[in-house]
Parts: sequence; structure tokens; C-alpha cells
Amino acid sequence: MTTFIPPSGATPYATFEGGASWRAIPDAELIDAYKRYGAILLRGFGMDLVGFRDLTQRLCSSAVFNESPSREVIDAEQNIQTVNIGVEAFPLHPELSREPWKPDICFFWCMQPPTRGGETTVCDGVEIVRQLPPPVRDQFASRQLRYRQIATPAECAYWLGSAEPDDAALANPPAACPYSFERINGKVLRSFFMPVFHKPMFTDEPAFGNFLLFGRYLNGIRVFPTFENGELVSDELLGQVKAVSDQLETPVAWREGDVLILDNTRFMHGRRPVTDTAERRIATYFGYVHFAELDARQRNAPWRSASFRPPGALKTAT
Ligand SMILES: [Fe+2]
Repeated sequence: MTTFIPPSGATPYATFEGGASWRAIPDAELIDAYKRYGAILLRGFGMDLVGFRDLTQRLCSSAVFNESPSREVIDAEQNIQTVNIGVEAFPLHPELSREPWKPDICFFWCMQPPTRGGETTVCDGVEIVRQLPPPVRDQFASRQLRYRQIATPAECAYWLGSAEPDDAALANPPAACPYSFERINGKVLRSFFMPVFHKPMFTDEPAFGNFLLFGRYLNGIRVFPTFENGELVSDELLGQVKAVSDQLETPVAWREGDVLILDNTRFMHGRRPVTDTAERRIATYFGYVHFAELDARQRNAPWRSASFRPPGALKTAT
């Protein structure tokens, strides 16, 4: 008999608690809870690699391309990997928000829980926007973020058909290309833009979920992303988001066999410091859901195809 526990004030995720097998939960029930709450914990079912793979296949049409040297590959074909094995705390982030192919969904499976520390943290980006002071909200509303970096020759070849594109090619990328290009001091730069407050896939309320917190508070980077016009997001302004999200972020104290499922278009995740890396083993799968609600352009985005392999991307998976 499976128990369903909806989110409450202190717990922003819904919980399905076992129960004989998670397989007894009807697809429709799982998907309804995912769409409604954006975060689900499966607890007490027991889980193995075959089960985890089957669960991801039940909800996904394909995996996100991921080529991360800091992770151990558990199942290469299915893109199941361990999380980054370092010890440092991670600020809240959606998975892969620094590339245009941010996955729809994140799965985390606890193969072996840490005795203490190492909790994965979760935070509802919709709740962050709700709780931001109105003057802070006003400074972000209707603004975009620009993710701009150098385009390598291989990337130019992939997206523009030439490793050394001329100005006409830079100005006219193909429709499927997510970047705009410019040449500055002889270097080709690629940029893509996302709203600071974006619409999650399954709710009309705006959410905060981007690379700002991770870039600023872990990497110490202030220029990636910036506002759309290159203006820096000030430490003071971002600090107000951090104050709100620090209050909202909820640790998941892992138990063996737990699976956490997050709508990556709505929820951010992070982690508390790890005290003993040897005993913390969490597997991940990032992908695109088969029940995605997309406009025509999004539906035809090249990264939603299983064969998508962009050159030189994703040296770290955050
Ligand atoms: Fe992550």
C-alpha cells in the first residue's frame, strides 16, 4: 500500500511512500503529481539500477547530452551517472541552465546515503519570486539574462557550418541554432538569452531559476550571466534573492533507495557540504519528458533529439 503525502509548509515536495513497488504507482498519478507540485520523493520502495532506468524511461523521451569528467558513469547508454564527487556545498541551480539545452527533469537516486551532511537541497523557483520584496521583483521583471562566451571553431562549424564563419554567417545563424553571434576583437562570441523570471513548463506563475547563484557564490563569476545588455546583476540585488532562497531551501536527508524527481523548469537544487565522499553515492539522470508542453520551436529544438551531440560543451554538469 503506497501512501501519498502532498507538500506541506516545511516540505516543498510530494512524497510517495512504499509500498511494495514504485511500479504500482500509475503513470498518470506520477505525472499529475509532477506537473502539480514540481518535486516528488519516492521513499521506502527499494530501488536498483534496472528500476531506476525503467523509472526514467517511463517519464522521458530522451536524456540530455552530458559529458562530465567529474562524474562516474554507471550506465553509459542510458546516461546514468553519479553526482559530482567533491565535498563542497553547491548553491541552488537548475541543472545545465548555462546552456540552451537545460533538461526538463532531474532524477536523483540514493544508492548509499551519507551518515551526516551531504543533503541535496531543493527550492521552488515559483516560491522565490512570490517571496521577493516587490522592489527587487521590479528590478528583475521583464529583464533577460545573457549567457555569452567564446565560440570555439568546432562550435562555429557545428552551428554555422564553418569553423571560421564570415560576418554574414555570424549574422544569419540557422533557425535551429539557439545562439546569436558577434565578433569582438577578432574573437567569435556566442550568446543566448533567457528571462530572469521564466515560465515553468507546468504552471503560469513565474519562477527564478538560472545560473546566477551558482556562478556568483561558488565560482565567483560575475559576468556570466549578465543582464541582456551586459549590465552586471549587482551583488546587492542578487544577495536579496539569496536571502529569500536560503530561507526557502529544504534539505533532503537521504535514505537508501530514495529517488527525488524535480521539474528542472521550476525547482532548483544544490547540496550541503559532504563530510565523507566515500559513503555518499547518488546517481542522476537528466532528460526531456515525453509529456512536455512545448511550442513548435521548442518541440523541434535539436537537443530534444537523442542523437544531439554538440562539440566542446559541458565540461562540468551544473
Ligand atoms: Fe546539479
